Amino acid sequence: MRAFDHSRRGLVTAGVLGFAGLMAGCSGEDAKEVGAVEDLMREHGILRRVLLIYAESVPKLRTDAASVLATHLNKAAQLFRDFGEDYHERKLEEAYIFPRIEKAGGPAAGLVDPLLKQHQRGREITQFILGATASGTVSAADAEPLARAFEAFVRMYQNHTAREDTVIFPAWKNALPASEIEEMGDKFEEIEKAQFGGDGFDAAVKQVDGIEHALGFADLAQFTAPPPPRAGTSPAKGGNATAKVPLSSPLPPSWIP
Ligand SMILES: [Fe+2]
Ligand SMILES: [Fe+2]
Repeated sequence: MRAFDHSRRGLVTAGVLGFAGLMAGCSGEDAKEVGAVEDLMREHGILRRVLLIYAESVPKLRTDAASVLATHLNKAAQLFRDFGEDYHERKLEEAYIFPRIEKAGGPAAGLVDPLLKQHQRGREITQFILGATASGTVSAADAEPLARAFEAFVRMYQNHTAREDTVIFPAWKNALPASEIEEMGDKFEEIEKAQFGGDGFDAAVKQVDGIEHALGFADLAQFTAPPPPRAGTSPAKGGNATAKVPLSSPLPPSWIP
C-alpha cells in the first residue's frame, strides 16, 4: 500500500539538490493508501507545476533573457524527464495503461496513438530545453526558440494530461476488475520504489517546490486573477486590457477603473 510523507521541511534547499539526492529524506510513515488512478493523477500535478514554471518564464525570456535563472529551468526539465518521461510515461502509461486501453477498444483506444506521439515529441523538446539551459544562462540566440518551445510544450501537455485524466484513466479503471485495480496500485508502488529508491512523488513535490521558490513562483496568491471588468466598462476603445496583464504579475492590476 502506498504511504506518503506530508513533510515540507527543506523546501527551499530542495531546489539545489538533485532528484535522487532528495530520496533519502522520503520515508513512508503515516500510511494511507493511494489508489492507482489517484497516483497517476497526482503525478500529473507535478508535471503541471513544471508547465507553470515554463509558462511563467516565457515573458522574461522575451524581454530580458540574460536575467533568466536558467539553472532552475534546467532542474525543472530534469524533473520532467526523470519523473514524467522516464517513470510516469515509460514505466506506467506505456507499459500498463495504454496496452490495456487498446485491448479494451472503444473511443479511448483512438487516443493512444496521438498520446504516444506526444510522449515522443515531449522527449525531443525536453532534450532541447536541457541543452538551451545547460550553461546556466540562456543565450540571445536561444531565447526566442526556448520561449516557443515552452509555449508548444505547455499547450501539448495541458491537452495531453487533461485527456488522460478525463478519458484514458477512467476507461482503464472501467476495463479492470476492482481486485486488479488494487493490485495495480501495489504494482505502481513497487515500480516507483525500484525507479527512485523510495517515494518518488514526495521527492518530486519537494523538488518542484524548491524550483518555484528559486524562481519566485512559490506564492500561490500571486496567480489569483484580477477582477473582471464591470459590465459597461470593458476597454472597447482602448483595446484588450487582458493583454496588458503579465502572466506573473505579483499584484495583478484591477480592471475596474
Ligand atoms: Fe501520457
Ligand atoms: Fe500521463
